[in-house]
Amino acid sequence: MTDPIRLLRELDAQHFTSGTMIAERLGISRASVSTALAQAEQFGITLERRSGAGYRLEQDIDWLSLDTLQQYLPPDSILHITLADTLESSNRQLLKNPQHGHVLACEWQTGGRGRLGRRWLGSLGGSLMFSLAWQFNGGPAQLAGLSLAVGAIVAQSLREAGVAQIGLKWPNDLLLQRDASAAQSGNPDNTDYAKVGGILIEMQGDALGPAQVVIGIGLNLSFPHHWQDELDQQAGSLQAAGLRDSRNALLGRLLGALEQGLGQFTQSGFAPMLAQWESLHVWQMQMVNVIAPDGQTQTGQLLGLAADGSLRLLCCDGEKLIHTGDVSLRRLA
Ligand code: BTN
Repeated sequence: MTDPIRLLRELDAQHFTSGTMIAERLGISRASVSTALAQAEQFGITLERRSGAGYRLEQDIDWLSLDTLQQYLPPDSILHITLADTLESSNRQLLKNPQHGHVLACEWQTGGRGRLGRRWLGSLGGSLMFSLAWQFNGGPAQLAGLSLAVGAIVAQSLREAGVAQIGLKWPNDLLLQRDASAAQSGNPDNTDYAKVGGILIEMQGDALGPAQVVIGIGLNLSFPHHWQDELDQQAGSLQAAGLRDSRNALLGRLLGALEQGLGQFTQSGFAPMLAQWESLHVWQMQMVNVIAPDGQTQTGQLLGLAADGSLRLLCCDGEKLIHTGDVSLRRLA
């Protein structure tokens, strides 16, 4: 079965390209071309078909390219980057051999993984989906606050790329505050914030030796509206919120910032980034319900973070610390 992405690479938005020409270029049958391109919509892109002329994209796809990406990386970067068209999950793939500084980015995931066992959807050419392997010689003990540090690094980079409204929900959801007109009453958690990105950190290594960590990041540069029905959370788009970077420029910017920020985290831990994280925290000092996986709910005011990155919640019977990221937060109106 031909990977439809290989075929989509033959198309652009300026010309119609005939199925016969694609078949010849790729050495496949005309029937395989039409079968593969029949699935184009599942990638979140729109394809125009004209009989006698062939296929044309509604919009050019901003493909990832190593040459372009390198222009946006610091010259002394140690990162080793691999690009792929289709993977089941970049995290899953990189976890098989997580070498320090290796990055795996892809155009499409067939089984993208989100936090709390959820799946992660990205659109072709409209998302960034990548994983970075990093080794911590201090072992798992060195990792307290890592997911928060990564959230702060990514959110700060997005602000620098023009997304002024980006913020963080503990532990590391990347949210956009939507304008007041979009935030009509109802459940405030689902109406006035839209998720534009997420971070999934997975680990290998035993309790005593070095820890190999895979940091997976998914960002919606654009997001097909009709996919919203498949999600239990409002999704948003970074381009609609002012993102100026192309996909390659943003990936380069993020990788440069992660390389530098993880170096600093390795030296000094999360504490120096705590104030920055709180300044990006969308629900700082607000009232929330914290819902555990078994449904148990605690209500309180979010005071911010403790030094180890746990969440400080002021309940009616005093301050509590939330350590586990397995909880869901719901803001109260
Ligand atoms: C979340 O649920 O908020 C985390 C989403 C993380 C998605 C990214 S996309 C690249 C990497 N590969 C995966 O399978 N997941 C992460």
